[in-house]
Amino acid sequence: MTKRTSSGEPLTFPAGFTWGAATAAYQIEGAPDADGKGPSIWDTFSHTPGKVRGGDTGDIACDSYRRYREDADLISSLGLAAYRFSISWPRVFPDGAGKVNQAGLDHYRALLDALGERGIAAAATLFHWDLPQGLQDRGGWAARETALRFADYAGVVGEALGDRVTRWITINEPLVVSHNGYRIGVHAPGLCDDVAAAAATHHLLLGHGLAAAALRTVIPPSAEVGITLNLTPVLVAPAADGAATALEQARLITDATANGIFLEPLLAGRYPAHAPAHILPPAELIAAGDMEMIAAPLDFLGVNYYQPVHLRPGDPDHPGRDEEPPQPGIRGVVAYRPEGMELTAMGWLIDPDGLYELLARLAKDAPDLPLFITENGCAAEDYVTPEGVVYDIERIKYLHLHLDAMARAARDGANLSGYFVWSLLDNFEWAYGYQKRFGIVFVDFDTQRRIPKASSAFYAGVARANAVPPLPREWPALRDKPNTVRYKGTGPTRGWRVRPVRRDPRLAGWSVPTGKCRANRRKFRDPGVLFRQWRPRTRSSALATSAASSALRAPPCAGRSGAWGCGASLLAGSASLTSRQSRHSTWSSRLTRCALSQRPQCARSASAVETQAGQMSTWRSPTTPRRHGLLFPASGSVCRVPHR
Ligand code: FCB
Repeated sequence: MTKRTSSGEPLTFPAGFTWGAATAAYQIEGAPDADGKGPSIWDTFSHTPGKVRGGDTGDIACDSYRRYREDADLISSLGLAAYRFSISWPRVFPDGAGKVNQAGLDHYRALLDALGERGIAAAATLFHWDLPQGLQDRGGWAARETALRFADYAGVVGEALGDRVTRWITINEPLVVSHNGYRIGVHAPGLCDDVAAAAATHHLLLGHGLAAAALRTVIPPSAEVGITLNLTPVLVAPAADGAATALEQARLITDATANGIFLEPLLAGRYPAHAPAHILPPAELIAAGDMEMIAAPLDFLGVNYYQPVHLRPGDPDHPGRDEEPPQPGIRGVVAYRPEGMELTAMGWLIDPDGLYELLARLAKDAPDLPLFITENGCAAEDYVTPEGVVYDIERIKYLHLHLDAMARAARDGANLSGYFVWSLLDNFEWAYGYQKRFGIVFVDFDTQRRIPKASSAFYAGVARANAVPPLPREWPALRDKPNTVRYKGTGPTRGWRVRPVRRDPRLAGWSVPTGKCRANRRKFRDPGVLFRQWRPRTRSSALATSAASSALRAPPCAGRSGAWGCGASLLAGSASLTSRQSRHSTWSSRLTRCALSQRPQCARSASAVETQAGQMSTWRSPTTPRRHGLLFPASGSVCRVPHR
């Protein structure tokens, strides 16, 4: 691998390189039942208590269904030539099949017109996870029928919008759909079923193949059709002789599970030999001709890159610090975080060399296939300073490093045609709700005001120059962020982080006393901390209560028993619920103290709770009289207060 550039000339990209930004329908549109739209599985999932952090839903999101012109203006003001967005299947087929909803198609035609007027090329994703609920009720992707209906949908959309779309992406990250949605249940439809996940794997691939064929019959020959995969390079540490074989075996299995399971059928028409049996679709699901349909040539491959996985010899049953067990069934090997490697606010590794490795591998495996990075970006602790700017130096550094890696890969032979930053806007980050901000444009979810972050200017500069500047010898330090205090993160996001400290008069009422834990409180004795982004985003007090209560259920509370265990399960049985409105203020201040004695994330809950105390009741444990908590009627959840 070629070393990073640290000085000298900017690295240029090939002429005609496409620079864009990406979003997805459920994450930004809102308007869940406007103009005849049917429910999607994400509407259902996000409205199921306990599924999404903070109880957030995509009901409003960035309101882009209505504000699409403003968003098109933003893209244009950044000088970006392309926009990747997704089409909501249930807007076009409210039930997934049957009658077409013309109003849904009209919306996307209007969006495409707005893009066209501004000279922005459209990359439309047909399926970014919001499956019509009607199809889920008939089996979802575990049923072959869904693949057939997907092809019908692709044909209808292609026919209606084909003259306005430059690039079609059939499916976004099918691995996340089958794994997160069907195998481990953290995404919609929330199943934990290996058999359904293996079936979904095949039907997603088949759906892609059928949809691509359906599109090609109706769209102009100049339009391109591809698919987007999330790919994870598997990097191994040099191992002593004895461990080398186990490590190589682990690498092959991990690579087959994370990449090959979708990549190999698409590129070679077969499932990978090293994939564990439980993830492979059973032979009886694979009809004659399926694999040929799946492996029909692509015009391009969309690659989403966030982080690699690093493997080294170790004991998966007793993982050490910075280690975790790899794929199940691999002995003698652990996944680990290389020393000194930083993490994003998602707890994901920041490893631009992984992107280089990935592109180099694709250049070898599929040299003629044009590649687009269809997503890459990071979540960071963004906030608006009192001066009204978002100084997201973490994101600038992240983008700079990754664009540099991409430029080196292109220079060294990768067949790269474009890059779409994830994301244009802060948005609904699936199971994380609105807590994680990925945008290069900040969204104030209360007012829907869009504020371009500092990173958008950096990115616009790269796009304008079609070149990435040399990496600086030294990065701006986090402490250079205005109005911040450093604190040590815990859990997956451990390490030094920053958060804002100064009160902003415009945000009065949303500041909470600082302090991470008792021992540290002295360090953070500051008049106020803004947790701007965690303010409940809904206007109605009922919804705000639900947001506040769900914030309380966020980790470390979620799904645990223990002092901070919360959740409906605690309500089971004969819990006696008493409403003692008069004591709310006592409870909330006690809760504030408790929250602050835990991880800093909890402080936001305290802020939310204090303002919503009027909506709560106290809760007394039926079995342990000393145990009390707050009951949130809107969501039925309880947050226990450890000490009275
Ligand atoms: C990808 C998704 C995208 C976004 C980013 C952070 O897996 O495709 O919608 O959530 O992760």
